[in-house]
Amino acid sequence: MQHLWHAFADMHTLDASGPLVIARGEGIHVWDAGGRRYLDATASLWYCNVGFGRDELADAAAEQLRTLAAYSTFGDLTNAPAENLADRVSALSPVPDSRVFLTSGGSDSIDTAAKMARRYWQLRGEPERTILVGRSRAYHGMHLGGTSLAGIEANAEGHGTFVGEIARVAWDDPDALRATIEEHGAGRIAAFFCEPVIGAGGVFAAPDGYLSEVRRICRDHDVLFVADEVITGFGRAGEWFASSRWDLDPDLITCAKGITSGYLPMGAVIAAPRVYEPFAAPGAGMWRHGYTYSGHATVAAVALANIAILEREELPARALQLEKQLEESLAPLADHERVEEVRSGTGVLAAVQPTSAALADPSYAPRLVAACREAGVITRTLATGALQVSPALVIDQEGLEELTAGIAAALERVAPAD
Ligand SMILES: Cc1ncc(COP(=O)(O)O)c(C=O)c1O
Repeated sequence: MQHLWHAFADMHTLDASGPLVIARGEGIHVWDAGGRRYLDATASLWYCNVGFGRDELADAAAEQLRTLAAYSTFGDLTNAPAENLADRVSALSPVPDSRVFLTSGGSDSIDTAAKMARRYWQLRGEPERTILVGRSRAYHGMHLGGTSLAGIEANAEGHGTFVGEIARVAWDDPDALRATIEEHGAGRIAAFFCEPVIGAGGVFAAPDGYLSEVRRICRDHDVLFVADEVITGFGRAGEWFASSRWDLDPDLITCAKGITSGYLPMGAVIAAPRVYEPFAAPGAGMWRHGYTYSGHATVAAVALANIAILEREELPARALQLEKQLEESLAPLADHERVEEVRSGTGVLAAVQPTSAALADPSYAPRLVAACREAGVITRTLATGALQVSPALVIDQEGLEELTAGIAAALERVAPAD
């Protein structure tokens, strides 16, 4: 009897079929407990930007663990890796003079940003600005705040009442945002949350002009613009931050995943001076928010070592080069009769979308994922039933061919039931 309750799992099925135990990893590959090698098309959960098996990250962790594993950053306490990491992230971010609030992951970052936005308006003397606006298809983590804000209905269903004062707009229509702001009145809207490229919702790049238009709308109505860069941050979209690529000038950036490449768990919220100032104004008092592991010393040391690799190997720029190669490699899959489209072309992020006819058979997508594994490629399905493609940023042409060949073989092998 196994006692691990898996995340995002149908435990009835899993208890019968058993899990796939991943035992080790190197570069773009992982090995299962039986010694079988797979190309990891997903970089685990979008996070392993520098690839698996980096000794220097293990060394950074070991050295810090021996010196001081962790120490609180509540109040006036701190530790050197946390301080250095915040300086580094602020300097790399597209937000000059930003402050960095460290968390334990992406969901923490989202809920921190949501509370930060509401608190900001309180401190600014506009306490009515409490409504948070999210987009359809959006994924903002699994805390109560992020699940409420996100646009994937299935993730919210069946848990009773979620967080209030949330509005949802169509993911691809700036007019929908404008209309929502006008409907509620700008004086009620605290912040707009926006993934520069929608990830778990199915990998959807924003339509041309969308991002600049929603940015302008937020500025015109003095609504805080929050870029959720949990996936796109730290190189995956072809720059350190997607906000730079699309000139988003965000008030807040949420990040996680690539900040450590997942070697240890961490997230961060990068706050523009405008947001930070009222929190640090005379009389503002203590902001009663933080996590036990905010600024965990060992995680911060690993994050610094991970950032050093991203920088030394110029992996954000490499992701930009890979963007075209990935697009070209996957393009032939779109000709398959059971593929509706291949979405790619923004960094090392893509999705292979089966047709709705194929997905009408509920067993099709799980069987397709299983066939990919049989063909030596690990992937999974996203909210639309598409296969996720987001390998480590160290993948090369040979790896891309291996990845595409595995998916192509699976598409050939699996047919939906009539
Ligand atoms: C855009 C986005 N925001 C937030 C999160 C939540 O991050 P975590 O799973 O680390 O809590 C994710 C996770 O995939 C994400 O993709």
